[in-house]
Amino acid sequence: MKIAVLGTGYVGLSTGVCLAEIGHDVVCIDVDQKKIETLKQGKSPIYEPGLEELLSRNYDAGRLRFTTSHQEGISRAEIIIIAVGTPQSEDGRADLSFLEQAAKDLADHIARDSIVVIKSTVPVGTNEYFEQLLADHLKKKVEIQMVSNPEFLRQGSAIMDTMEADRIIIGTEHEEAAEKIKEMYRPLNVPFLLTNVKSAEVIKYASNAFLATKISFINEIANLCEAVGADVEDVAKGMGKDKRIGMAFLNAGIGYGGSCFPKDVKALLHSSRQHGIPFSLLEETIAINDHQHQLLVKKAIKRLGDLKGKKIAMLGLAFKPETDDMREAPSIKMANALTELGAEVAAYDPVAAINASKVIGNKIKYAVSAIEAAAYADALFIVTEWKEFQQLNLPALVKSMKQPVIFDGRNCLAEESIRACEKIEYYPVGRPAIVVRG
Ligand SMILES: NC(=O)c1ccc[n+]([C@@H]2O[C@H](COP(=O)([O-])OP(=O)(O)OC[C@H]3O[C@@H](n4cnc5c(N)ncnc54)[C@H](O)[C@@H]3O)[C@@H](O)[C@H]2O)c1
Repeated sequence: MKIAVLGTGYVGLSTGVCLAEIGHDVVCIDVDQKKIETLKQGKSPIYEPGLEELLSRNYDAGRLRFTTSHQEGISRAEIIIIAVGTPQSEDGRADLSFLEQAAKDLADHIARDSIVVIKSTVPVGTNEYFEQLLADHLKKKVEIQMVSNPEFLRQGSAIMDTMEADRIIIGTEHEEAAEKIKEMYRPLNVPFLLTNVKSAEVIKYASNAFLATKISFINEIANLCEAVGADVEDVAKGMGKDKRIGMAFLNAGIGYGGSCFPKDVKALLHSSRQHGIPFSLLEETIAINDHQHQLLVKKAIKRLGDLKGKKIAMLGLAFKPETDDMREAPSIKMANALTELGAEVAAYDPVAAINASKVIGNKIKYAVSAIEAAAYADALFIVTEWKEFQQLNLPALVKSMKQPVIFDGRNCLAEESIRACEKIEYYPVGRPAIVVRG
């Protein structure tokens, strides 16, 4: 099938590459010239495991093309997938300006009857609004069938999540379009759920808000565990073994971040209120998460006192492992809070340092290794659970610190390696501390 994908971010690019891999003829369009130039060299502008290999293979095979020209990309396509960003506005609602521009770009160039698929995460009613916008601006008399097809991939495993998704949601009022989208995805062999447009729109927000709430729930349980001397890891295991609850998303830590959960929870809250549903549960989800983001700083103050002049090492900057994405990463607030308190911060992340420096700036130092960040530090924060940190030579790293104090915001260090240290104070989240006095 001839497919155009508008927006080559994490979602658009992963989708375009995977659709090419299963044999479609895909053109990816983006307004960002630099991105398109990088892509035209067969390179990925983002860090995403497995993406570049698939990208260059399909690019070389001629199934995948990249352009900044909407005309070139759209005019031949029978299916047009919209994957532009829907970031958060100041008041919490989803900012639809990229989507509105995309509708106008489409309207200028659609030259044949087509199916338009909205993959971007959008509030309920947006597909309808987009369809109207498109109709108002269409230059040629063509028939458009709208499909809501929300995306569930996770950064860091985007390719696997696309190729082996749990389900594909197809929300449309057009039977013919539903069949065509099923045909497009059929080689993936993933179960379909057919529904109407509005239900598809709600499914996406409901899923993300539920997962975010699950995280905040276990984090509040972790805070209780710390207060009473219980171990949240055992509690989570005991809960998760119950099939009705499940193990996923029960990892206590310093809260969620990233380009989706924070903005999607806020957008759902905003649109619920607009429809007269207060949804106060989501307010608590957000409040607990905000609290968790400051947890390590509070613990450090409690243990070290005034942080002025103290050196804090931060391991991990990206909002999660296996990505270089810094959007809403807890490390940002943490770095800001620490430097405002006068601490000196040295941070290390295996891939996100460049993106981090664009957001956090030069108020912190960027080390080239964990050991460099940790040297002479008064305390070390583990912010992102990169595998590399779990494989560190912990005794050597701890020895290089001024004080062997570790606050593990992701509970990712193995007890064995902690106990192998000559001297250490290890403070996880929701679990008893481990102190080796030496
Ligand atoms: N990132 C994720 O993990 C994820 C997962 C599921 C759903 N989503 C949703 O998917 C959507 C896209 O997210 P993302 O993370 O890929 O965003 P992104 O910001 O990484 O990418 C969006 C891209 O769209 C391009 N763009 C903007 N306007 C355009 C236009 N008119 N024509 C062509 N290109 C245009 C931008 O230049 C950018 O490259 C959002 O709605 C997001 O909520 C994201």
